[in-house]
Amino acid sequence: MSDYFTISQIDEVADLIGGKATLRPRVGIILGSGLGGLAEAVKEPTIIPFNQLPYWPVSTVIGHQGRLVIGELEGQPVMVMQGRAHYYEGYSMAQVGLPVRVMQRLGVEILVVTNAAGGVNPKFSPGDLMLITDHLNLIGMSGLTPLRGPNLDDLGPRFPDMSQAYDHQLCELARQVAAEQHLLLHEGIYVCLAGPSFETPADLRYLRGIGADAVGMSTVPEVTVARHGGTRVLGVSGISNKANLDGSTLTTHEEVLEAGQKIAPQLLTLIQGVLRRL
Ligand code: HPA
Repeated sequence: MSDYFTISQIDEVADLIGGKATLRPRVGIILGSGLGGLAEAVKEPTIIPFNQLPYWPVSTVIGHQGRLVIGELEGQPVMVMQGRAHYYEGYSMAQVGLPVRVMQRLGVEILVVTNAAGGVNPKFSPGDLMLITDHLNLIGMSGLTPLRGPNLDDLGPRFPDMSQAYDHQLCELARQVAAEQHLLLHEGIYVCLAGPSFETPADLRYLRGIGADAVGMSTVPEVTVARHGGTRVLGVSGISNKANLDGSTLTTHEEVLEAGQKIAPQLLTLIQGVLRRL
C-alpha cells in the first residue's frame, strides 16, 4: 500500500484511461453510498471497472459499484466514479486521493463530490439534500491527509489554501437550480470522521457543538487533493439518517442505502441543472 504516488504513477493510470476513452472529461463526479444510479444517465459511456486500473482503490462497501463511467451528461464531458473507497477500508490516504489526481491529469477542472451523511443539524431529515459550504477536517487534524509525502510541485503548492474549498460560484449555481426545480437544498458544514463505526450520542453532541451540520466518512480527503491541484469543487450531501444525539435510535448502513433511493433522483436533477449552466 503506497503512502504516496509519483507523477509518473498517476500518469500511468491517466494514460490507461485516456487510451480507452476518447472523450476528455471536464467535470469529475464522485457518487457516494447508494447514489451510484446517477451514472446511468451518462450518454455513450465508456465503462472501466476500478479493478482494471493499477493502484486504484476498489470499493468493498455494498452500495458502491466500483467503476468509472466516462461520457456526456447534459452536454458536458464527464468522468463519473460509481462508488469510492474510504480510509476505513484499509486504503492509504494517498490511494483515497488517487482518483482525483488522475482526474486532474486528464484535464478535469470541476469536481462534483457527493456523499451519504448523517444529519447533525436537527432541522435535517432523511432524504434531504445539503449543499456543502465548508467542511471540518477532523480526520486531517488527526494527521490523515492525502497530501502527506513529497509535494507534487507540478500540481500544486506545498501549503495549499483552503479558504474557498467549495467554490462560491458553483454553490450559487446549485442554489439557482434548486430554486428553479423546487428542490429543498439545505446548506451547511460537513465533518469527516474515519469511521466505520457510527458516532456515539456524545460524539454527535460534540460535532454539533463545533458547528457540524452533517457527518460522514469521505469527501474531505478528495476535496483536499482537488484544491491542492486548483480543481473547483461542488459538494452535496444526501442526508441518509438523523444523527442520534440522545441515543434513542440505531443507525444502520441499510438505512443509508434506503435513503439513497429517495436522494438519488433529486441529486441527479440538481447536478444536471448545474452542468447545463457551466
Ligand atoms: N455518520 C457517519 N457517516 C454516515 C452517517 C452517519 O450517521 N450516515 C451516512 N454516513
